[in-house]
Amino acid sequence: MGQREIAIKMARQAAENAYAPYSNFRVGATIRCGDKYFSGVNIENASYGLTICAERVAIFSAIALGHKKIDEIAVACIDAPDGAPANSLMPCGACRQVMAEFLDENAKIMIDRVGVFNMKEILPVAFTLKCESVD
Ligand code: THU
Repeated sequence: MGQREIAIKMARQAAENAYAPYSNFRVGATIRCGDKYFSGVNIENASYGLTICAERVAIFSAIALGHKKIDEIAVACIDAPDGAPANSLMPCGACRQVMAEFLDENAKIMIDRVGVFNMKEILPVAFTLKCESVD
């Protein structure tokens, strides 16, 4: 199995652990930093706005463990029905901005049942501040 398939498979597996009792829309995300993988799931809250997406949980876990250079991210929305429109399977805008902060320039963004994108494609002209490198 290639790295791409591994990340997608891990994202789908991770999604089983999502806490999504309000939307019933479970999402899993897996990122690869070199040879290490980190997964996240969406975690909802009765106070809806406190919900956090799977992508950010995965990215923040890696950062917390000292990995700041992300080589790829896979996202899987396992409750979307077959034939669901692509936009219902894509990362939200907030997660795209967080990806812009940490994904390597050439990182691949792999969306289960949609395809593979790069950062420029999913968030052109991302907001940035001139600041010290996070390397
Ligand atoms: N969700 C994610 O986990 N990632 C996204 O990029 C889009 C939305 C979650 C948030 C919420 O728990 C559920 O999907 C429905 O919006």
